[in-house]
Amino acid sequence: MVDGIHGRSSIVLSASVWKVLAVQFHVKQWRSIRREDVHVTNSTSSTPRRIAFDGPEFPEPEAFAPDDLDDVSRETPTLPRPKKTRVLVVANQKGGVGKTTTTVNLAAALALSGLRVLVIDLDPQGNASTALGIEHREGTKGTYEVLMDGSPIARHVQRSPESSGLWALPATIDLAGAEIGLVSIPGRETRLLRAIERLTHQHELDYIFIDCPPSLGLLTLNALVAADEILIPIQCEYYALEGVTQLLRTIDVVKGDLNDRLRLSAVLLTMFDARTRLAQQVADEVRAHFTKETLEATIPRSVRVSEAPSYGQTVMTYQANSAGAVAYQAAAEELANRGEMEN
Ligand SMILES: Nc1ncnc2c1ncn2[C@@H]1O[C@H](COP(=O)(O)OP(=O)(O)OP(=O)(O)O)[C@@H](O)[C@H]1O
Ligand SMILES: [Mg+2]
Repeated sequence: MVDGIHGRSSIVLSASVWKVLAVQFHVKQWRSIRREDVHVTNSTSSTPRRIAFDGPEFPEPEAFAPDDLDDVSRETPTLPRPKKTRVLVVANQKGGVGKTTTTVNLAAALALSGLRVLVIDLDPQGNASTALGIEHREGTKGTYEVLMDGSPIARHVQRSPESSGLWALPATIDLAGAEIGLVSIPGRETRLLRAIERLTHQHELDYIFIDCPPSLGLLTLNALVAADEILIPIQCEYYALEGVTQLLRTIDVVKGDLNDRLRLSAVLLTMFDARTRLAQQVADEVRAHFTKETLEATIPRSVRVSEAPSYGQTVMTYQANSAGAVAYQAAAEELANRGEMEN
C-alpha cells in the first residue's frame, strides 16, 4: 500500500515478499529457542542497584563504592524522565535516510535536557560513534564484544563530549563480522536484549537509542528484539517509502515471535526541503499513512546538520540555534512528552 507513492508497487512488493519470507525462515529457526529465553524481565519489578556512571568509561558494577551513588549531580531535567528506561531502535533498511543523524541528535537533545542517555552504535560504519566524538578506531572494544563475547555494555561505553549525560557504545568495522559470526552463536538474536537487561538492572538510564545499519540482518534483528519502541526516519524524497512496507512486515514477524513489546512509536520526516513540491507530497503521504505516529516536528535539510559530524559533534552543540537543531529539539520534546502521556 505505502509503496504506491512512487508507482513501482508491484516490483517493490515482490522484492519485499521475498525478503520477508527470508526473515520468516529465520524466525522459524528461532522458534526452536525456548520461550523463556526471550522473556523480558521487567527491570522495575526487582530492585535495581542504582549506580551512577562515573568517568569516561563505566566501570564494572562491582567496582563502584556506595559513595559513587551520589557522585553525579541530579539536576531536575527540563523534559519528563520516563518511569523506566525507554529503549528505542532507529531503523529503516533504506540507506542514507537520516537514521544516524536522528539517533545522535535526539540523544544529544535529551541528554542536554538533563536526561541520561545511551547510544548503542549497531552499524559497522560507526557513524554514530563519529558524530558523538567517541573513540572507535579498529581494535576499540564496543558493540562487537558485547554481541560476540557477551561482554557487559558497561565495560565498553564511553562518555560523549557532547553532554555529561550522554554515553555511547562504539562500533568499529569489526562489527561487520558479527553479522555472520552471530549465526552460530546460541541465542543469537537475543544477545543485545540480554546485554541491555543486565545494564538497566544495574544502571539508571532514561533512554537507550540503537542506531541500525541499513539492512534487515541479524544486527537489526537484535535491535528489534531488544527494543520497546521503533522510530522510523523517512527522508522526504522520491522512493521515500520504499522498503517501509517490508520493515513493517518484519516488525510484525518479530513482534509475533520474539518481542511482543515492540511498537512503532514514531515516524520522523527528515531532510525536508520546503522549496520542492515533492517533499511536501511525500510528507503528506507519510502523514496520511502514519497519522498517529508521525511527529509534528519535521527535520529540514540543512548544511549545519550534515557538517556537524565532521567536527565529531551533533548539530545540537555545533550550532544550537540552527533550524536543524531547533527541529531536533522539538522532535525530542515530542518524543519525551508522548512517552509521558503513554505511561
Ligand atoms: N537534515 C539534514 N540535512 C542535511 N543533510 C542531512 C540531514 N540529515 C542527514 N543528512 C546527511 O545525509 C547523509 C545520510 O544521513 P545519515 O548518515 O544520518 O543516514 P543513515 O540512514 O544513518 O545512513 P546509513 O543507512 O548509511 O546508516 C549524511 O551525510 C548526513 O549528514
Ligand atoms: Mg547510519
